[in-house]
Amino acid sequence: MKYHIIVYGCQMNFSDSERVCAVLENIRYKKTSNINEADLIVVTMCSVRQSAVDRVQGLTEKFEKLKYKNHKLQTILTGCVLKKDRKIFLEIFDYIIDIKDIKKISEILNKKIIKNTDNYLDITPKYSSKFSASVPIMTGCNNFCAYCVVPYVREREISRPTKEIVFEVKNLVKKGYKEIWLLGQNVNSYKSGKTNFPALLKTINKIPGKFWIRFTSSHPKDFNSEVIAAIATGGKITPYLNLPIQSGDDKVLKNMNRHYTVKDYKNKIKELRKKIPAICLSTDIIVGYPGETKKQFENTLQLFRDIKYDMAYINKYSERKGTAAAKLKDNVSVVEKKRREKALNEVLKQTALENNKKFVGREVEVLVDSKKGSRQFGRTKEYKIVEFNSLAGQANKNLIGKFIKLKIVDATPWKLKAKIK
Ligand code: 5AD
Ligand code: SF4
Repeated sequence: MKYHIIVYGCQMNFSDSERVCAVLENIRYKKTSNINEADLIVVTMCSVRQSAVDRVQGLTEKFEKLKYKNHKLQTILTGCVLKKDRKIFLEIFDYIIDIKDIKKISEILNKKIIKNTDNYLDITPKYSSKFSASVPIMTGCNNFCAYCVVPYVREREISRPTKEIVFEVKNLVKKGYKEIWLLGQNVNSYKSGKTNFPALLKTINKIPGKFWIRFTSSHPKDFNSEVIAAIATGGKITPYLNLPIQSGDDKVLKNMNRHYTVKDYKNKIKELRKKIPAICLSTDIIVGYPGETKKQFENTLQLFRDIKYDMAYINKYSERKGTAAAKLKDNVSVVEKKRREKALNEVLKQTALENNKKFVGREVEVLVDSKKGSRQFGRTKEYKIVEFNSLAGQANKNLIGKFIKLKIVDATPWKLKAKIK
């Protein structure tokens, strides 16, 4: 029996999928990249924006055709599925399985009744990369930002036992993994027994071996001096942080139920830059939140000029049923949302270029992750993409998954160019 898996979503969805693959392979399914030959199709979805939901709905016709050819084909939807959307998705999929029930997949496929859920995070995943692994440390969210469906699809925060996380990371490092991503909807609120997030970082940092530790996502209200100190003293913890601000206007932040002000955020960045001068920063933004005026948006633009981000994930507000914000009128037009998105991208492009130029002439360590002909790519510890060319005679040398030293010779906003030393 063969299965095909489709992932639409964030790093957490990818990590979930690695656990789905492990469970399926345990019951002797074999993975296929060819959807036409699959007996089982699993879709891991995201519900954060309507566009992701539309993409899943867009599979309807394809599934109908495939089922016409293969009557035995079964389809499963999992990941972040809103209860309210289940009905429409049950018209497309045979089963919708809560990610927490994924261990029971074989019972479900055999139409047996499933019992209560247990901890799906203790499944050993089938890692899709041989050098970079995602390790969930917590799941769920207690924050209820007004626009967000995550607390509804992922329910409340649950932290994984520290021992289990450390065991997984140790095994990965032994196998030669070079990059460990600690994942969670809000990693800063990790708490298991007496271990909080900074303590977990310190514990993982002590695991012997050469590897980098990265983490996401952080919430500014929970990102504090203790975390900064843990990153600063870490060694293996990389100087890159995604700290989503969502808006640069206090009133909008209040409406979004974010529990911090622009000043609080800026103070945290100030402390971070003082303690970790090498830190590179990215953020998440929502443009066109209900009621966001042009003036309020200007404050976000100003924030971008002030902070000088290296990267930003800019999202146009997408109304999600059931959230607090859905009660407000989505009154910023699509055209205006696009204009705001573009304006932010223009500032970002300049600040990213300015920041990247500072790398020119430096020698950096790069974890190589891909190759296209003679062009190879990797990332620095600051999460900067680096492109370099294989030297003659080295063209076939497989550097993927290895650390190498490179000299930066040029910079663009989204990429550094380098030469092999
Ligand atoms: N509309 C647009 N963007 C959203 N995000 C979350 N919910 C919405 C929404 N309803 C964005 C936020 C978050 C990122 C993961 O997705 O910026 O940080
Ligand atoms: Fe959504 Fe806010 Fe929770 Fe992030 S912190 S997952 S934006 S509710």
